[in-house]
Amino acid sequence: MINIEPSKNLSKIPPYLFTKINQIKREAYDKNLDVIDLSMGNPDLPTPGHIVDRLCDTVKHHSNTHRYPQAKGMPKFRKAITEWMARRFGVELDPENEVLSLIGSKEGIAHLCMSYLNSSDCALVCDPAYPVHFNAVALSGAKVYSMPLLERNNFLPDFTKIPKKTALKAKIMLLNYPNNPTATVVEDNDFWKEAIKFCKKYDILLVSDNAYSELTFGDYYAPSVFEFQGAKDVALEFHSFSKTFNMAGWRLGWVCGAKKLLYPLEKFKSFLDYGAPTFMQLAGIAALNGQQDCIRELSSIYERRMKKMVNGLQKIGWRTSETKGTMYIWAELPNCLKKEGSLSVAERLVKETGVVISPGAGFGKHGEGYVRMSLVTHDKRFHDALLRIGKFTKSELNKQRV
Ligand SMILES: Cc1ncc(COP(=O)(O)O)c(C=O)c1O
Repeated sequence: MINIEPSKNLSKIPPYLFTKINQIKREAYDKNLDVIDLSMGNPDLPTPGHIVDRLCDTVKHHSNTHRYPQAKGMPKFRKAITEWMARRFGVELDPENEVLSLIGSKEGIAHLCMSYLNSSDCALVCDPAYPVHFNAVALSGAKVYSMPLLERNNFLPDFTKIPKKTALKAKIMLLNYPNNPTATVVEDNDFWKEAIKFCKKYDILLVSDNAYSELTFGDYYAPSVFEFQGAKDVALEFHSFSKTFNMAGWRLGWVCGAKKLLYPLEKFKSFLDYGAPTFMQLAGIAALNGQQDCIRELSSIYERRMKKMVNGLQKIGWRTSETKGTMYIWAELPNCLKKEGSLSVAERLVKETGVVISPGAGFGKHGEGYVRMSLVTHDKRFHDALLRIGKFTKSELNKQRV
């Protein structure tokens, strides 16, 4: 075998969080354990029928859609996106220049980092965060400056704590609300105004990852960054079909913002991919232009699951609280498990109970002491998961009492 090393940037980051979790999960399946998988934010419910029908019909009857797609997105896909953004958020975007189709927002966020960052740059990333936010910066060779998301600050970064020297060096700031993994939403619009002001002052590209904008509960609606004055000068916003329409496996998303800020990503992608398949874009149009009741129905399912799980966890002595959005629960490890650390707890939980959750440490240093549970199974399974986690916690408490 030849002697060859992968790139330094790739080598310095550990395997992706879910690669490790999937391996542990596989071992549990191999041992015939009854696995309850609450690890990945992978929607369990099907894509709405009208979207599936559109895809099937297109693939079957329109063979021209089997050809290479238009990389930046078909004009009518981009038009459907800007019209949806106008209806949903009241923001005006130019379909020709201010929107770019993506093969999922994960792809777009990663490539955006690579299209902007040099090894001498730094990016401001929340900790904990969706792992792609910090891994993409590391893959670009740039430095990550972590903005801690602390419970006492309602899991929002404190911009006043960023040293001026760092701010001057920073090129990108990544924000994601409604938030993965903490399930926090932003209720005070001043937060977005502060972020825009900060980024404008230091010439930083503000990246709003709005993957969960539609998964909100009650009368809370998440805004678009473009609802706030001045955002167009500094921000790009990423959206995804994955969670909104249960289309995670379809790999479709978009990014929008000013042409000048979008262009490096469009150029970068032109060397890598051919864009989202045409039949996917057409199905995306059906999703955006079709009935939107499915979104509220989906949100109310997640809300019901969230309440059930939060309530159940509190009853077995775990500290967590009800959320206003996302498909996650961010729960603090009880004292009897805290010392062990979230990674080891998550591993042991799978091995001993079959319940798979995500260790908080996988989302960053400040995620330690917590775990994330995805609300992606049906009601009866939550009941079983709670029974098993309860038994696991109790036995740990008893062990420590002896
Ligand atoms: C915050 C956040 N952004 C982006 C994504 C990726 O979305 P997509 O499926 O569009 O790549 C996820 C997926 O879990 C996410 O949690």
